[in-house]
Amino acid sequence: MPLADEMGESYFNKLNYTLSNEDTALELGVLPEQTGHVVAIAGSGSRVLPLFARHPGVMTCLDRSPAQLALTELRVESVRALSHRDFLTFWGYPTRDGVRIRPEERKAVFDSLPLSDAARSLLLSHFEQTAWDSILYSGSWETAMGSLARMVTRVMGAKAQAFFECRTPEEASTFLARAFPHMRWSLLVALLGNASVFNALLYKGRHPKKNVRDTYYGYYKRSFDRLFRQAPARRNFFLQLIMLGRLEFAEGLPVEADLAIFEAMKAGIGSADIRYVESDVLDALALATPAVGLVSLSDVGSYFDRRTESEFLQRLKPGLEPGARVVCRYYFRIPENVDTTGFEDKTRDFSDLIAAERTQVYAIHVWQRAK
Ligand SMILES: C[S@@+](CC[C@H](N)C(=O)[O-])C[C@H]1O[C@@H](n2cnc3c(N)ncnc32)[C@H](O)[C@@H]1O
Repeated sequence: MPLADEMGESYFNKLNYTLSNEDTALELGVLPEQTGHVVAIAGSGSRVLPLFARHPGVMTCLDRSPAQLALTELRVESVRALSHRDFLTFWGYPTRDGVRIRPEERKAVFDSLPLSDAARSLLLSHFEQTAWDSILYSGSWETAMGSLARMVTRVMGAKAQAFFECRTPEEASTFLARAFPHMRWSLLVALLGNASVFNALLYKGRHPKKNVRDTYYGYYKRSFDRLFRQAPARRNFFLQLIMLGRLEFAEGLPVEADLAIFEAMKAGIGSADIRYVESDVLDALALATPAVGLVSLSDVGSYFDRRTESEFLQRLKPGLEPGARVVCRYYFRIPENVDTTGFEDKTRDFSDLIAAERTQVYAIHVWQRAK
């Protein structure tokens, strides 16, 4: 069954992702320096940009959604053309001195960026809908999270904001031990953390069919407990989005906003051959040249039909070079009966990176094609 039917054509011709719901520090840690050819699912583009910091030869940004590819192109060209500070203000990320730009200034920056006609016309209508305000929160996923965050602040009240005032791990663990409203939080996770709410808000019946043993409540409760203990919440973009509905703290932004990574991304973009490919990822990999050294598959695997679940690695194999890595994220559904012939499971080699990943809502697998 072609993918479009699975997720519905309408799903692909709108911007579903504009900020990020993955911490790409993981894929960045798995990607070796100067890999010849990297293929990454585009999504919001925020999951592709940091990979340029490893100076790949060829970077293929791939997605079924022309809207996601257009946004990815905008992200790439904004890094190429802008300073770190102008990149932050253009996208609407909080800066340490709180400076923001006006809508007409954002339009002027957009007009100055060298974009393909297709990307410009697609994004123009999107920016006009947001009246040239930041588009970080205007994707369907981000909008849905905004609705959840309003419930969180309504039920948790000032305690939610107070949790983000903790600046050190000690302050955060004391707050969790003495002041965090655990009962109200557990109630929120029980009420909101399930497929029916996410289908109603976002997936319209296409939420992955859960096959992980955990209950929805157990899965989210454990994910957030890990995040609460990882670092003060203000340092985590995902927690800010889920609990506050917006990014308020400059010290807790996605990897692409980090100054050192930004400068390395700019250099990588300057030297890479960048391709934008609208296609099904498995079909594209079968034809990929040059051979691919890393595939960043996002959680596409959680949406495969049963047959594709078992054969996806074998369908990727022809396009991969010996020793190539495939980084898979899974959201409630892990492919079953996967034919792993010719691949080694290297997930354990990256357990530190996986534990440090700042969303903790994905099961992660790293496969390596035999050398
Ligand atoms: C579920 S999303 C994840 C987005 C990502 N979390 C982000 O932060 O940008 C996966 C992305 O993959 C695209 N996609 C889903 N299945 C695909 C497939 N088989 N081939 C290519 N792209 C696919 C969707 O259009 C979407 O942009």
